[in-house]
Amino acid sequence: MFIVLEGIDGAGKTTQLALLTERLRQRSPEVVATQEPGGTPLGDRLREVVKHGADLDIVPRAELLLFAASRAQLVERVLRPALARGVSVVCDRYVFSTVAYQGYGRGVDRGLIAAAVDLATGGLLPDLVVLLDLEVRLALQRIASPGRREPTTFAPARGRDRFEGEALAFYERVRQGYRDQAAVDPDRWLVLDATRPPDHLARIIWEKVEKFGLQG
Ligand code: TYD
Repeated sequence: MFIVLEGIDGAGKTTQLALLTERLRQRSPEVVATQEPGGTPLGDRLREVVKHGADLDIVPRAELLLFAASRAQLVERVLRPALARGVSVVCDRYVFSTVAYQGYGRGVDRGLIAAAVDLATGGLLPDLVVLLDLEVRLALQRIASPGRREPTTFAPARGRDRFEGEALAFYERVRQGYRDQAAVDPDRWLVLDATRPPDHLARIIWEKVEKFGLQG
């Protein structure tokens, strides 16, 4: 099974990713947990650029292609090989982030977004997308809270990244971008209220995953 977690920064994806991965591993030890941008040595370098290259004056189309390059590498080197071996994959963000951030957020043309997504993935889509939906105001409060760390690399917090410095209006568009995507593909998406307690969210996600397991 291929599962993706999505949501605006601060929605709690990292926590749910960890809980879900742990439960999947109890069922079958070999699970790939990865993230975008990143997940490969090339992707990790590109991640550094898109997140912390505030001095690089990255234009929206270049940003789109940087995410696409990271994704192409991840799809070919990690996701497809794992899925081909029958190993479940959990990914922190995927193409839906590109539609939401570069499309709705930055205003890059939809056709270009679709082309970049297709180029990077060759049409590989997850079985399930979990959207942790949260009011932007609350998300920004969570981002601003002291002691928030770069979750997956365990590096000390480096202050706000290029996205976390964006204005409220940017995040409102991104959130709408997610909700629109979920609305047109309800079978694939599970939309959850991210203000609910983490263990409650984890339980609902797991119920959904188990349903898929029964179907598959
Ligand atoms: P990250 O630290 O992974 O954010 P989070 O911990 O909130 O998941 O940083 C990735 C940032 O890149 C995040 O702000 C969302 C953004 N992003 C895009 O703009 N487009 C994309 O295609 C992807 C995958 C991420």
